[in-house]
Amino acid sequence: MSSGGSIPFDRAAEVYDETRRSTAEASAATTDLLGRELEARQPCLEIGVGTGLIGLPLHRAGIRMIGVDLSAPMLGKLVEKADGHLPFALIIGDATRLPFTDDVFGSALARHVLHLIPHWRHALTELVRVVRSPGVLLINIGFNEGPWQEIGDHLDARIGETARRVGLDSSRGAELDDALAALGAGARELPTVWEESELTMERYFAEVEAGVYSWTWNVRPDLLADAVVETKAWAADRFGGFNQVLEPRSPSVWRAYDLP
Ligand SMILES: C[S@@+](CC[C@H](N)C(=O)[O-])C[C@H]1O[C@@H](n2cnc3c(N)ncnc32)[C@H](O)[C@@H]1O
Repeated sequence: MSSGGSIPFDRAAEVYDETRRSTAEASAATTDLLGRELEARQPCLEIGVGTGLIGLPLHRAGIRMIGVDLSAPMLGKLVEKADGHLPFALIIGDATRLPFTDDVFGSALARHVLHLIPHWRHALTELVRVVRSPGVLLINIGFNEGPWQEIGDHLDARIGETARRVGLDSSRGAELDDALAALGAGARELPTVWEESELTMERYFAEVEAGVYSWTWNVRPDLLADAVVETKAWAADRFGGFNQVLEPRSPSVWRAYDLP
């Protein structure tokens, strides 16, 4: 289907789970945190459900889920992980044009997807339309400090920020809060989940060069190669050894937006 400028993840389906690593502890803590918000507001729609890293554990914890994603291969992986059976309804569709009537869900969630959608505000309007009051939207936001952010900023400056991101800058929680406030939803920050990480610069830059991250897909190869060479030299100077774990733990922050 047409992606409307959004970035579908067909080419990442095979490596997605391996490269967007989360420990079992962090995954369990996330399921627990979100599950508590969702249990009284079901069913829950996840837009950009992907391979089900969030949706599948919630389903296993007893939350009634429905998933929408542009990418059939990503949804195929989700089904594979559920032993080849459809664990809950999965729909190939666009978050900016949801194929549902109004007020059919008790809640919705979105992680790592609004930055891929140029018309991310339309996606929010759609979520508010399909979730009934008093429902909740759970949205993961980025954080904007630490060594990885510095490396990202450095790459942005060389490549052009717009090449790295087509939709919401998810490190700007305030922009999301404002957009949802305009739709009548008030923000609450949920307790931070800490993710342990073993990511080294060695591995990160190898993954950038291998095109693992979606932001690399639309960057001219020569521009990307130059930016990586330059950023590697800068990062070696700034942070030292490429084989050390750069940020042993990082925060995963969720906001709950209550619909009146
Ligand atoms: C980075 S993955 C995140 C997957 C999952 N939410 C997670 O946290 O692991 C982004 C997913 O959003 C999907 N996607 C991108 N734009 C979309 C859109 N407009 N509507 C629905 N899904 C979209 C991609 O195909 C991909 O599967």
